[in-house]
Amino acid sequence: MSMANERIYNFAAGPSMLPLEVLEQAGSEITNFGGSGMSVMEMSHRSKVYLSIFEETKANFKRLFNVPDTHEILFLGGGATLQFAMVAMNLISRTGKADYAITGSFAKKAYDEAAKHGDVRIAVSTADCNHTRIPTQEELNIRSDASYFYYTANNTIYGTEWKYTPEVPEGVILVSDMSSDILTRPVDISKYGIIFAGAQKNMGPAGVTVAIVDKSITGNALPYTPVMLDYAAMIKGDSMHNTPPCWNIYMLGLVLKWLDKQGGIEGMQAIKHDKAKLLYDFIDNSKLFNCAVVPEARSDMNVVFTTGDADLDKKFAADATKAGMSNLNGHRSVGGMRASIYNAMPTEGVKYLIEFMKKFEQENG
Ligand SMILES: Cc1ncc(COP(=O)(O)O)c(C=O)c1O
Repeated sequence: MSMANERIYNFAAGPSMLPLEVLEQAGSEITNFGGSGMSVMEMSHRSKVYLSIFEETKANFKRLFNVPDTHEILFLGGGATLQFAMVAMNLISRTGKADYAITGSFAKKAYDEAAKHGDVRIAVSTADCNHTRIPTQEELNIRSDASYFYYTANNTIYGTEWKYTPEVPEGVILVSDMSSDILTRPVDISKYGIIFAGAQKNMGPAGVTVAIVDKSITGNALPYTPVMLDYAAMIKGDSMHNTPPCWNIYMLGLVLKWLDKQGGIEGMQAIKHDKAKLLYDFIDNSKLFNCAVVPEARSDMNVVFTTGDADLDKKFAADATKAGMSNLNGHRSVGGMRASIYNAMPTEGVKYLIEFMKKFEQENG
């Protein structure tokens, strides 16, 4: 096989690797899905054949992620970023107030978006240590009359994750952006009013955003809210108020079937934790590489590390590309390196990276 046909280990933070068997299945069905004579991309979203894909995907999502009947699963457009506005426009009218944990730049963006609609306050911020840690429950200063409390479960850029579910005062709705860790660990969804995530890390190609919404908290959108941003309207239309991202939902469906074969969420949780541990153990024992994130806050999804020398970090990412690994450079705001090891990154990919790091250390340490 020529190099041009070989797949590489892609450590990108999103869009990210998809399981090979998912891509192959999609490829085999790309011009004619299940004898329908057409691609999923060409089908009416109201057709019987498409509706069966849609319903199956939704049912599998519900079963795999253990979504209770109180909550609706929505397939939306606009990415996670549009949810920053949608959350605020749907929930803040309850008291006019909302509190945010600022543990990274996406949390800050969500906060800025919400601030357009009400009295929004920072419940805690980790900016003073460049977001290398996660706050404790005791640090969360949540107003008892906040409409909701918002946090980013996994901070993609900084490589941290909340290892606990924050507790909120009675009556305060819990909201979380799980873009970079959804479908990687079990979540007690009953504790949340809204969970949302863009698909392009753990779920499929960019273009569909999943929102899991407690039906009882909808119906209070601000009067100027566009209908497309009103959860109540999206629930009423079963994500088909307009044309949904049909093909992306189909791709999510294929990823869910693959996830089932990995032992579902529990199976994936063990796999992803073992993968991350291999990498962190190596970094902690290395003389060249180090990870600035405090051990108790380290993300299993995004592993950030550095040599402490910006030029050497650049050489690392360049040499890694030559060795068949892409996107190992850290986010431009942090520098260093970042290995995003979402669900579809095989354990062999992480082992291959570690072998490369060993060699790089010998040659450059
Ligand atoms: C935690 C988190 N939230 C939000 C976003 C923004 O997602 P989108 O590009 O789908 O709007 C990202 C993207 O990387 C992310 O990692």
